[in-house]
Parts: sequence; C-alpha cells; structure tokens
Amino acid sequence: MRAKDLIPLIKTVNTYKRYGKVSRVVGLMIESIGPESSIGDVCYIHVGNGTKRKIIAEVVGFKEQHIILMPYTHIREIAPGSLVEATSKPLQIKVGPELIGRVVDSLGNPIDGMGLPTGMTTTDADRNPPNPLNRPPISEKLEVGVRPIDSLLTVGKGQRLGIFAGSGVGKSTLLGMIARNTKADINVIALIGERGREVREFIERDLGPEGLQKSIIVAATSDMPALMRIKGAFTATAIAEYFRDKGKDVMFMMDSVTRVAMGQREVGLAVGEPPATKGYTPSVFSILPQLMERTGTNENGSITAFYTVLVDGDDMNEPIADAVRGILDGHIVLDRNLANKGQFPAINILKSISRLMSGLATKEHQIAANRIRDLLSIYTNSEDLINIGAYKRGASKEIDEAIQMYPNIVSFLKQATDEKISIDDSIQSLIHLARTGEMN
Ligand SMILES: Nc1ncnc2c1ncn2[C@@H]1O[C@H](COP(=O)(O)OP(=O)(O)O)[C@@H](O)[C@H]1O
Ligand SMILES: [Mg+2]
Repeated sequence: MRAKDLIPLIKTVNTYKRYGKVSRVVGLMIESIGPESSIGDVCYIHVGNGTKRKIIAEVVGFKEQHIILMPYTHIREIAPGSLVEATSKPLQIKVGPELIGRVVDSLGNPIDGMGLPTGMTTTDADRNPPNPLNRPPISEKLEVGVRPIDSLLTVGKGQRLGIFAGSGVGKSTLLGMIARNTKADINVIALIGERGREVREFIERDLGPEGLQKSIIVAATSDMPALMRIKGAFTATAIAEYFRDKGKDVMFMMDSVTRVAMGQREVGLAVGEPPATKGYTPSVFSILPQLMERTGTNENGSITAFYTVLVDGDDMNEPIADAVRGILDGHIVLDRNLANKGQFPAINILKSISRLMSGLATKEHQIAANRIRDLLSIYTNSEDLINIGAYKRGASKEIDEAIQMYPNIVSFLKQATDEKISIDDSIQSLIHLARTGEMN
C-alpha cells in the first residue's frame, strides 16, 4: 500500500481506547460504569489479572448511569472493577468462500479445529433487510429434491417457509435430504439450541460428507449463553447474505427458530422486559420479523429459507408458531401420526401450504396437485369410518375412489433418505398419478 492511500485509513483509526469498570454481576447480567457505547456494541471485559484474557460481551441495555452487558461466553473470572473496553462496533464476522465445508460458531470462528485464512471479508452480523421495492418477485421454481415438496408444495427461489414439527418426527432428516438434493448453489445451515450430540449427528448422518461439501454450518448448542444462540441466527443469516450478494442461489435453514426465540426471551427477561404471551417478551416478536425479512430475494441473488418451529403436542397455535406463520410464505407440517405409521418424510400435505405455488406451477401441474389434495382430503375425512369398517363400499363413488387411490398416494409421498428425485420427475409422476391412479 502506498503512503498516500494510508492517510485516509489512519484518519479513521480510533487512537484512544475507552474503558469502563464492572460494578455488579447478577446472573447473566453485567453492569458497568462506562464505557460510552450504544446498544448492540461489543465490549471486551478484561479478566484474569494481567493475563491477556478477555470476555466478549454485548451492550443490551442501560440503567441510569450503568451499562448492562451480556456475555457471549460463560463468565467466570469477572471481578468488581474488571476493565470493560469499548469497541464501538456491533458484532462483525469474517465471510468468504473459504467457509464452505466448514463448521463455525456464532461469532464465525471455526469449531472444526482448523483456522481460517487471512484476507476474508468483514461484515456486520446484523444488517437491514433488502429494500422491499428492489426485491424481484419470486418467479422460478427451486428443486429441493424431495418429491412431496417439489410436486405438491413447490418452492420458489427466494421463498421462505416454516417447518412445523414436534421432536423426533424427522426434521433433521428432512433438512439433510434437502441440503444434499437441492439444486441451490450453496447451503447455509444454522443449528441453534441443539445438544452437542445432535449437531454431530446432523453433520455426520443427515448431511454426510457429500452434503457438507456444499454447506456452511453455524452451530450454537443449547449449553451456550442465550446471547450466543441469538447471534448464531444473525451470523448465519449474514453468511447467506454474503453469497446472495455474489449472485448465488442460497439454501438457508434454521433449526430451530423456536430456540432463537427462547434465547431472546431469556435476554429480554434479564433486562427487565415484561413477559407477554407464554412468557415471551415483546422483543421476541420484533426480532423474528427482523431476522426473517433478511432472507428472500434481492437484486443480486436469492436466499430460499426453511425455518423449523418446534410445536409441542402438535399445538400449531402456540405464539412462536403463530408469529412465524404470519411472516413466511408457507409452511410444511410434519405429523407424528404419519411418522408413527412409518410414512417418511412425515409431511401432512393437507395442513401444509406453499403460498407461491400457484404462480410457479403450470396449469397441468396445479390441476394434478389439486386432485391429489382432494382425494387425500376425502380419504382423511372418512378415515375413521373406513378403519372401523363402518364404511360400505359403493355408498359414495368419491370415497370409493379415494380408498382405491390411497395406497398409491402414500407411496408417492414417501421417499427414502438416500433417494434423490428431480423436480421434473416428481411433477411428471404427480400428473401421471392424478390421471391414472398409478405410480410410474
Ligand atoms: N425419510 C425417513 N426415512 C426413514 N426414517 C426416517 C426418515 N426421517 C426420519 N426418520 C426416522 O425418524 C427418526 C427421527 O428423525 P430426526 O430427523 O432425527 O427427527 P427430529 O430432528 O425431528 O428430532 C430417525 O432416527 C429415523 O428413524
Ligand atoms: Mg433433530
């Protein structure tokens, strides 16, 4: 670099450091007197008496003259009077193609034991969503490689959907299948609030080496402080944005957005927000749209996103499920009854919807999809009667037809974990099934 180029750089350098002092620690909350800083700024708390150790924390509030900080890591060595150094910047992470195939934490640091090269791009973890007026409408299908989705819940490039499911119904398996099979250029997968063992299982079993090759994993496990779980969601979104700005079609997955909401609830309650619905604080309901509006299309590329929502006892009306459903362009419901019957992926077609499908599918495709939905709905409505043998064949032509077609519809909806089916094949099979009642 030439001296002339260095001058503007030198002018922007902060040549003095601002410090404050820790005055109180209550639970996860650290109060300090100074340094001058604003909400969202990162501070370093110097600990361990003359060692160079520091804890990274974020300014989450103010109380009279005091600054309230929350740590990104576990706090141990903090003492009264520990120095708090201001960075005057929000959380920044390193991004670049070097991240592909890697597993990083909420701050973007690799946790797979290998470092990152120098020269990567620095970006804010929290950014504004694209200007809605500059967002191209969603007009192109994106192959996810899972037959019931591609055919009956067709997804567009840049569409955002929720996956609603209880535990053990096949979320991780489905996300792994999508990541391996999709035609998207790259996957960015945020694993938030899972146990360490589950993260490992997802990477090794569900994703596999073939999936990891075109994926970036951001992992924030359940044992990490609340703020770290929230930041994992922001960091993963920022990584996806980087690739979208490079013109890529990104597949983004967040498992689960419920755990992000729970993290925000913890932070909200700690800084004194009033609990509202089910103990969730108001900031939970403002952070969710902030986060989810960042994915989707922009003028350069697209981020197609799947956000999983945990629904206990299949209660689709719990507050997070409700909020998420309102923000996104569709949802896929995984049904425990189907999983118990061995129907995998356990997608309940009748309870699921892709709100953009009608604009993406051809007329022929849409007609076939409607017909299969109708047959499923007729069968489901009479299922109890059929199962107890109270339905007499011949009583209704419609029901007879639905009973006859049902086994083939179920085989159409099933897909083995290692099976990869192209969207064209899926749509052709759907049209064939609707016309002839046969699987081709
Ligand atoms: N497509 C599939 N085919 C066969 N079995 C599946 C499939 N998806 C899920 N399962 C079964 O369900 C179990 C739980 O799935 P998993 O994806 O770990 O659920 P979750 O992430 O929702 O807790 C798996 O161990 C597997 O036995
Ligand atoms: Mg799982």
